[in-house]
Amino acid sequence: MGSNTPESQIFLMFGNGWIANLMKDILLEQGKTIIMSKARIESREQVLSELTKHKPTRVINCASTRGTPNVDWCEDHKVETVRSNILGVLNVVDTCFQLGIHVTQIGSACIYTLSEEEIKHQPPFKETDEPFYQGSWYSRSRLLSELSIRHYSNLLLLRIRLPIAADLHKNNHIGRLLKYEKIVDLTGSGTVLPNLLPGALVLSEHAVTGIYNFVTPGQISNVELMELAKKYIRPDLTWQTFVLDDMLSTLRAPRSNCIMDTTKLQKKLREYGYEVKERREALEEVFQIMAEKGL
Ligand SMILES: NC(=O)c1ccc[n+]([C@@H]2O[C@H](COP(=O)([O-])OP(=O)(O)OC[C@H]3O[C@@H](n4cnc5c(N)ncnc54)[C@H](OP(=O)(O)O)[C@@H]3O)[C@@H](O)[C@H]2O)c1
Repeated sequence: MGSNTPESQIFLMFGNGWIANLMKDILLEQGKTIIMSKARIESREQVLSELTKHKPTRVINCASTRGTPNVDWCEDHKVETVRSNILGVLNVVDTCFQLGIHVTQIGSACIYTLSEEEIKHQPPFKETDEPFYQGSWYSRSRLLSELSIRHYSNLLLLRIRLPIAADLHKNNHIGRLLKYEKIVDLTGSGTVLPNLLPGALVLSEHAVTGIYNFVTPGQISNVELMELAKKYIRPDLTWQTFVLDDMLSTLRAPRSNCIMDTTKLQKKLREYGYEVKERREALEEVFQIMAEKGL
């Protein structure tokens, strides 16, 4: 594992969704080799067959189920959720382990939560804090998945949260907010993908292992995102805010809210000359690109 130079890796991607394709585009722009696998990850045979056929030196797993239109879907599709998010993830990590391949798992930070009051007083969660949140079936599947894979020596586990990019994809937190008439004035961690995804690839290329809170430093507020949207792309935008309890009453399962510590991530990426941008700078850049694209 990691015997070739960082620049000469062959990447294989499981999952062909939003984040997988954003990573693919970055790799192609860098002139790297990336194979997009069509395997269903709950099938060990399919996963093994892809790995032995393509002989990647790096695997990235972006395959998972979050449900449509939102994670409430998982409440009614428990087995499907387990097969993708637990069995599938274990299959990928374990087969890579047996074949000596470094694997990057895109995981979730929604395995911690604090109340609105607690969040004001408690320090951000570090990677060393034991995850505990399992209030929704989605979070439970993510929690069990992380607990199952975290000791594998070939694993880089990146916990993302509220991903943000310069597009209007349905999974993009900005795209979601723009569809709502009322938003909750919440503040928490978010992953500004255009700045962070190239960093994920740096970590993968250097065969870094362990768990990292893969979020942008600082706290991102929904109201700030709406204000930036108004400034850059929707001058006529108006919105109302409502309290968290009112939002939760419209959902099947509770949601997590948390602030994650980014010290470990920033320090590690700095070792490779990669600077993680702070919240405001990273967000302004995203909205500037959206404005340039005419979104
Ligand atoms: N977007 C978010 O808000 C968010 C937040 C935190 C973490 N994450 C994590 O980030 C990762 C990528 O998210 P995303 O936004 O890119 O999601 P996405 O667009 O829904 O992509 C997920 C992809 O995984 C595939 N998939 C699901 N189950 C699979 C299975 N068993 N075998 C093979 N492929 C499977 C889906 O294909 P099919 O539709 O064909 O099944 C889809 O192409 C996921 O692990 C997600 O949980 C996302």
